[in-house]
Amino acid sequence: MKKLADFQLRSQAAYQEAYRYSVDNPTEFWAEIAATFQWQQPWKNVLKHDWTTPSTEWFVEGKLNITENCLDRHVAEHPDKEALIWEPNDPNDTVQRYTYKSLLEAVSRFANGLKSQGIKKGDRVCIYMPMVPELTIAVLACARIGAVHSVVFAGFSSAALAARINDAGCVLLVTADGAFRGDKKIPLKSIADEAIAQCDTIKKCIVFQRTFQTVEWNNRKDIWWHDFIDGLSDKCAPTLMDAEDPLFILYTSGSTGKPKGMVHSCGGYMVYTAYTFMNVFQYQPEDIYWCTADIGWITGHSYMVYGPLACGATSVHFEGVPSYPKWNRFWEICEKHKVTQFYTAPTAIRSLAKHPTKLIEDYDLSSLKVLGSVGEPINDEAWNWYNTNIGKEIVPIVDTWWQTETGGVLISSLAGVTPQKPTYATQPLPGIQVALLDQNGKPIIEKEAEGILTINYPWPGIARTIYGDHQRYKEVYFSAYNGRYFPGDGALRDKEGNYRITGRVDDVVIVSGHNLGTAPIENALNEHPAVVESAVVGYPHSIKGNALMAYVILYDSTEVVPSLVDEIRATVASQIGPIAKPDRVLFVSGLPKTRSGKIMRRILRKLAAGENDQLGDISTLLNPAVVEEIIQSLSKE
Ligand code: WT7
Repeated sequence: MKKLADFQLRSQAAYQEAYRYSVDNPTEFWAEIAATFQWQQPWKNVLKHDWTTPSTEWFVEGKLNITENCLDRHVAEHPDKEALIWEPNDPNDTVQRYTYKSLLEAVSRFANGLKSQGIKKGDRVCIYMPMVPELTIAVLACARIGAVHSVVFAGFSSAALAARINDAGCVLLVTADGAFRGDKKIPLKSIADEAIAQCDTIKKCIVFQRTFQTVEWNNRKDIWWHDFIDGLSDKCAPTLMDAEDPLFILYTSGSTGKPKGMVHSCGGYMVYTAYTFMNVFQYQPEDIYWCTADIGWITGHSYMVYGPLACGATSVHFEGVPSYPKWNRFWEICEKHKVTQFYTAPTAIRSLAKHPTKLIEDYDLSSLKVLGSVGEPINDEAWNWYNTNIGKEIVPIVDTWWQTETGGVLISSLAGVTPQKPTYATQPLPGIQVALLDQNGKPIIEKEAEGILTINYPWPGIARTIYGDHQRYKEVYFSAYNGRYFPGDGALRDKEGNYRITGRVDDVVIVSGHNLGTAPIENALNEHPAVVESAVVGYPHSIKGNALMAYVILYDSTEVVPSLVDEIRATVASQIGPIAKPDRVLFVSGLPKTRSGKIMRRILRKLAAGENDQLGDISTLLNPAVVEEIIQSLSKE
């Protein structure tokens, strides 16, 4: 029987052959890969799909449990191999190590705790935790018993947390007393308490003790993590899941106010994350892989938890931030754990690049074999800095393009195997059929072109729906271009067929790698009693990639006191989270609008970027004079 490793593509010719096969025989291609996993019952059909409904099912009626594939399978082969190396926020604290065996035991014990609280297959469990091993344990424990996890990034506010809990109808919350982030302590429990006060569905709150700070306690609801698992067995039989049963919900911003709860499947998601992890990073059994993301984002789900564990890999999980205690922390960790693959985001690279290279030179980075980038387009300077200072011009860089919705990487080079090209994600992975469309939705035949990126054919990792709103799923991703998946990004293609992602073509702005919808930020701004209306746009920023500018109309413009800007920004922080705070706030008397009343964000984006000479024809606006007024105010900013 073949193993997953037999599907590792180790030459450009092998990639090309696999790619061709995946297009000519997509179901055979994926069936052969999926057969290397552990199934409790074989599937009947590889793929059933109809992109008009839209519905996509992979490995139909196959039965499995993803944790058997991520844990038990490896315990049988190499129980003492390390699965996790946990590096704490404070470099003087103790590193924690979990072998495949000890991780399975911890997961099983927590899973038994969940069962004892009556949590069963299909129930939604919200996880709002710092980057501690217990976060991974809670995630996998849900998967063990078939509960659907919804991880909410611990930087989100109580309002954002409550909205996500309510949308998914979560019955249990797992959190911590607090979180360490650099020199800060974040009061997670009290934020969670504020959230739960607005959520009727939560019955219990499990609290992991991390910071030992004082917390409010509600005996009816709250249970300490250590009490919760006390005396429980470290064996828990995996619940049998259908390949298409939901594994998790993860929220991502959309261009309307409400976040979208993307639902991922058990079977297809497992196959896709493992296959892409193994190939993009050219993973080898002795590697020490480190992804610097947080498990609160899809990168953490796919390439810190499920993908690496399904491959039996050893991963570093880091609790802290690159700047603490000093801006050398990443390199210190790479040296300390002899990291072989290092996967981070352009925004981190740009921040690191602002600091003296002396901070790198003290460390031995010779263990590095692969560097990765994800989350937004990587600009030339950042790419070159990464390549020169970290990769020493010999380590391949993979620029991986994908989304919360896609489950795993769609476009990337394979490290050291297929050609890389600075600022280009390069070519689609096997199984991914890309089409570039023109403004009218017609596929562009010429190789060298710029257009709208779409995907023609399903892949196993695609999100199956938006939780509770299939109609929205259809409208957002499948209605713009008939019969194609529309990710919302534009791209440039060179004559070799390499893709360079040019950025969003909708109202989503990527700030420091965080995907932020402008609509929810505007809704938050409008909550402030002094604000009538607002418009938020992104503009280029040297570190964050994009920053946010808010144009705000006040009820009474004579009331502008110096603290108002801070107050308005604080409103956004409390509604969404500090990451969504606008960098600049400009008070205006009106917003440029079309005659049908639609805000002309294109013009506002140009103004925020200082491209006043590229506004185009503004005479057709409802109120062209307002543009001149904004230019005047900006010149005084
Ligand atoms: C959006 C998805 C993928 C996990 C993290 C973000 C942008 C992502 C790249 C890249 C250019 C990229 C796209 C995409 N993006 N990776 N390598 N090059 N742009 O996931 O929050 O769902 O955001 O991030 O605009 O649509 P997400």
